[in-house]
Amino acid sequence: MVRQRMHPPAYFRCVVSERFSYYRVAGRRRLADLAGAVRDGLGSRPYSIPPRFFYDDAGSALFEEICSLPEYYPTRTEAGILGSVRRELAGLLGGRFRLVELGSGHSTKTRRVLDALEDAGPGTEYVPIDISDVVEAGAGSLVDDYPRVAVTGVVDTYEGGLALVRGMDGPPNLVAFLGSSLGNMYPDESVAFLGMVRSMMRPGDMFLLGLDLAKDKSVLEAAYNDSAGVTARFNLNALHRINRELGADFEVSRFSHQAPYNADGGRIEMYLVSEADQTVRIPGAGITLRLRPGDRIHTENSYKYTVPQIRMMARDAGFAVRRLWRDDNELFSVTLMEPA
Ligand SMILES: C[S@@+](CC[C@H](N)C(=O)[O-])C[C@H]1O[C@@H](n2cnc3c(N)ncnc32)[C@H](O)[C@@H]1O
Repeated sequence: MVRQRMHPPAYFRCVVSERFSYYRVAGRRRLADLAGAVRDGLGSRPYSIPPRFFYDDAGSALFEEICSLPEYYPTRTEAGILGSVRRELAGLLGGRFRLVELGSGHSTKTRRVLDALEDAGPGTEYVPIDISDVVEAGAGSLVDDYPRVAVTGVVDTYEGGLALVRGMDGPPNLVAFLGSSLGNMYPDESVAFLGMVRSMMRPGDMFLLGLDLAKDKSVLEAAYNDSAGVTARFNLNALHRINRELGADFEVSRFSHQAPYNADGGRIEMYLVSEADQTVRIPGAGITLRLRPGDRIHTENSYKYTVPQIRMMARDAGFAVRRLWRDDNELFSVTLMEPA
């Protein structure tokens, strides 16, 4: 692999093969982001760690494991919707697009979208954007399976990746944001985020948004408290990461995973709960944390939506809905939108 230093110097360009390269944001900027977020989130109550820090190499591998758990219906349901609407989606797109995917992870469901895009017009480009280094492995295996697709990845935040895409010429963009990742944001942040995506789109661009739907509490709580304990390991991995990268001394076995459904908020909330009186030093963030039994660190929200809520968010962010699909059991939704 060839690594080239870039201008502006925030990125390296890694050339893996003729059809696959990616931009990677400099490691020191990522570490500074983690240190600042930990200082802000654990420096005072209520304690929190933003969910984007779940996804180091171990966290991304654990998330992939979550995706195939029997209790975790979102991944297989969204993949099912994308597979069943392939022809219709190709018809609605009606031509060649560059696929830009926010939070692409292992790029597994992406294949369903690429199939529709290849039906709509051959010679697709794919731009996976993810804060995790998973981009190399995820998009790497996709390149092997899609010989007509060229991949330019970005290992950075959604915003950083979209800013790079803005400078690219070529076909219109289909921006995809799957896996209900938008649900990690508070409702006002979600509309602001969608508005930011909208503001970066050109006439002719489209947006494909996968969102989890409101449903029975027992189904939701089972999905985030699986019997094999994979989601618990995923949640606790945030502490391992802070130990490794910021030199902290969290005793991870003295914390437990909790993921209750908050019916008033319409969201699953994820916490790490202190099981003891304990003091944790985090030198890389310059703080010391004193916890009592039962003290909670909030690590994630996962909002669940009704169809009217989805339509309202789209409208408020400046989008017109072209089509909204759901599975037969109304567990999950995929919405195709365009700038209004
Ligand atoms: C819930 S997973 C979804 C993965 C995949 N899209 C799916 O549907 O299975 C969220 C993905 O977004 C990435 N991610 C989380 N926060 C991010 C951010 N602020 N900027 C860029 N990527 C982010 C994570 O690394 C992870 O791969």
